[in-house]
Amino acid sequence: MNILHQQHEDRAIGERSSVKDDAIQQVRARIQQATCVTVLTGAGISADSGVPTFRGPEGLWKNFRPEQLASSKAFERDPQLVWGWYNWRRELLATKTPNPAHFALAEMEGHVRNFLLITQNVDGLHITAGSKRVAEIHGNIWKVRCTVCQQVTINREVPLPLLPSCSCGGLLRPHIVWFGETLPAQVLEQSFNALQECDLLLIIGTSGLVYPAASFAPVAKDHGAYVVEVNLDPTPHSDLVDLSIQGRAKDIVPQMLSGVF
Ligand code: APR
Repeated sequence: MNILHQQHEDRAIGERSSVKDDAIQQVRARIQQATCVTVLTGAGISADSGVPTFRGPEGLWKNFRPEQLASSKAFERDPQLVWGWYNWRRELLATKTPNPAHFALAEMEGHVRNFLLITQNVDGLHITAGSKRVAEIHGNIWKVRCTVCQQVTINREVPLPLLPSCSCGGLLRPHIVWFGETLPAQVLEQSFNALQECDLLLIIGTSGLVYPAASFAPVAKDHGAYVVEVNLDPTPHSDLVDLSIQGRAKDIVPQMLSGVF
């Protein structure tokens, strides 16, 4: 690389970082003005805590087939195989802690009257970080549901027996929304209300490929919200949102909130 090219590269990096600084400054101003904030997070926000994403280079779906492990058909066919996989994920997640992005959002919640954090993540790290107003639209890996009496309980036992049973004798399953299953009506209604009412939507760490979450940005935009995306890579929403900032959530999210409150 010759000197000129290096100088050009340095300038580009300089320009890129000043563009990013300007963008972060704009988001701070929007947060200060906002009266109703909604946040949507995906696996990318937990990647900095060491939680594998789904579609990244080391993503879960690179090594495992969702139709074999994350569907009710798979569970009917072989509940031990499915529970074996979820026990593996629970053991992994039991060692993970929230990162600065999770904590920044929990702090933000305390300063915004109308606020909802919608997460696709089942790792429970937002709640561990102190977030209260959370809609876990895909469920939570630390909850189990009885396939007979439908009772939902919190169970952090690691590992669980391969065929865990409920006090009613029914087989327990992970309280997670699997492929082909619909999201609970109550959590979906809560999410759509927040998307239609918010004047600011922050989307953090999601590839924007899985519905209904992938429809949330257009819904908020259609209802007049200013939409910001923070993601390591471009997504199908990057051209639709008002501001797309590429980078790691653990770096960008705290910067967006620093000095705002
Ligand atoms: N900071 C910000 N973004 C990141 C980071 C990081 N440190 N690391 C990865 N990302 C981005 C990736 O670029 C990718 O676009 O996070 C996104 C993660 O995308 P997916 O792995 O597809 O995860 P997600 O969008 O949450 O998946 C949605 O799909 O498999 C189902 O139910 C599962 O909830 C999940 C849903």
